[in-house]
Amino acid sequence: MLLTDPSKKISFNRCIRDGDLVIVYERHDSMKAVKVCETSVLQNRFGSFKHSDWIGKPFGSKVFSNKKGFVYLLAPTPELWTLVLSHRTQILYIADISFVIMYLEIVPGCVVLESGTGSGSLTTSLARAVAPTGHVYTFDFHEHRAASAREDFERTGIDSLVTVGVRDIQGEGFPDELSGLADSVFLDLPQPWLAIPSAGKMLKQDGVLCSFSPCIEQVQRSCETLRSNFTDIRTFEILLRTYEVREWRINCSKIDEGSSIAPPPCKRRQTLGEESARDSPNSPAVMARPSAEAKGHTGYLTFARLKCIS
Ligand SMILES: C[S@@+](CC[C@H](N)C(=O)[O-])C[C@H]1O[C@@H](n2cnc3c(N)ncnc32)[C@H](O)[C@@H]1O
Repeated sequence: MLLTDPSKKISFNRCIRDGDLVIVYERHDSMKAVKVCETSVLQNRFGSFKHSDWIGKPFGSKVFSNKKGFVYLLAPTPELWTLVLSHRTQILYIADISFVIMYLEIVPGCVVLESGTGSGSLTTSLARAVAPTGHVYTFDFHEHRAASAREDFERTGIDSLVTVGVRDIQGEGFPDELSGLADSVFLDLPQPWLAIPSAGKMLKQDGVLCSFSPCIEQVQRSCETLRSNFTDIRTFEILLRTYEVREWRINCSKIDEGSSIAPPPCKRRQTLGEESARDSPNSPAVMARPSAEAKGHTGYLTFARLKCIS
């Protein structure tokens, strides 16, 4: 996942090789991760695709099947991995993840502690944010889940940046040997308030903690605990609104003006020299409307900064 060019910069400016992980992209809601193997063939509704045809092509290439169907071969970025990974638990999605990374001030070289690991959705983005010199220590008390996460991190090539531990963080706290080493701590646990005192011990002076909770009662209880050792306590709910912007062949002028159902905003396509198409009520119109599949509430993100005791 973190491919490097000869100057050790993170980059996907190289060609696909045997053994690489690629995202086979049909459309935004239909894609999957595939490991390239010279002798394998991918079968899907568009036909069969020989992996040997993919080797040597740049990431982003459009490749064709025996039936002239096509897919795109995309680089396995954390953003795409979050969409294709196997859901062993609830996961964090891009809107929450990006806010977490920004607000926790995670940059290359940072040490980040996380619990629980879950499906490793957030961990994958944390790893890229701390690369190449930082490290993510992530803990889950579910042995099998931790093992699956480790396998995924090997597949995506981030295993040197992530250590997965099996531990009951609510019961035992984070390991003492990480005390005072963390730039930030992230909690996605059912009773985060039990882990907050230990998280405080792990943080460097001025370090930031974030706790993700689906229910406001969990947030209230966490904030109560945070108040003794943390300051600047703030809670956010990140709501993302996606839009469909498409060309529709629909007669806008026919929409009933007295109707209580407002039409989506639409703009007839205007092309120089195509007056007749513009004037025709049946010409294509570009319409924009909020996507029906947009996610609503995922959870609350509570951030707090460790109080500086001087
Ligand atoms: C919702 S999942 C985390 C999902 C993760 N943030 C992601 O983006 O993929 C919560 C995880 O916390 C783990 N967990 C629950 N209680 C725990 C505890 N006391 N100590 C460690 N892990 C725990 C669960 O096993 C589960 O895998």
